[in-house]
Amino acid sequence: MKYSLSMRLLHWSMAAMIIGLLAVGLYMTGIPDDAPDKYDLYPAHKAFGFIVLMLILVRVATRLRSQIPALPDGLASWEQKLSHAMHALLYLSMVAMAVSGYLMSSFYEYSHGIELFGLITVPDITEKSEYWSGVFHLIHEIGGWVMIGALGFHIAGVIKHRWLDAPENDVLGRMV
Ligand code: HEM
Ligand code: HEM
Repeated sequence: MKYSLSMRLLHWSMAAMIIGLLAVGLYMTGIPDDAPDKYDLYPAHKAFGFIVLMLILVRVATRLRSQIPALPDGLASWEQKLSHAMHALLYLSMVAMAVSGYLMSSFYEYSHGIELFGLITVPDITEKSEYWSGVFHLIHEIGGWVMIGALGFHIAGVIKHRWLDAPENDVLGRMV
């Protein structure tokens, strides 16, 4: 049994956006503050981050209503536990990153909402506060590294069961 088509589409479209957001987030925050192109990528990061936030709602609703294939029996019990723990951590870090990003920027003095590709502007939803912007910034920064760590295990697990394991233990086939 495979994941449903909607779960597969959501997984891969969100994976591409999230990996892009991690790379762009680390890149843009590494540019020196006084460089002329420092803030060029911020609007796109915020816009794609907001799209991920909306897709999380669709994904959680879709997951609750769809059948999730059981892991192959050949996986050791610790492998099954690790896989479930990493999936939970990935969902948790997705929510934490999208929500903390929105709140950090909403509290930030110089933010004026999220421009969605010149079409509409999603408004900031809080008063301005340096303190709270800083708190959510810290969550965003730590959350990013937690997510990268969980992704390392996630991708290593997929590779192991695909290429270094018995063929019936493959999990990639269920998601493509
Ligand atoms: C799953 C979604 C997201 C991921 C994976 C992500 C990832 C990242 C990462 C890795 C950084 C660098 C962290 C640092 O060193 O400060 C970053 C920075 C940032 N993110 Fe996100 N982000 C996401 C969503 C959002 C959203 C929704 C917003 C706002 C609407 C946002 C706004 C920002 C801003 C303004 C920064 C720069 C902070 C600074 O200047 O230090 N992010 N993001
Ligand atoms: C190259 C990158 C990626 C590959 C090869 C990959 C592969 C897979 C595969 C094969 C599964 C199915 C596992 C199973 O059968 O139980 C899966 C599930 C999952 N992946 Fe990924 N993935 C990638 C990136 C990501 C990213 C960036 C995220 C989010 C941050 C993510 C989050 C998840 C979650 C939460 C599940 C569990 C789905 C569920 O049961 O609801 N993946 N992934």
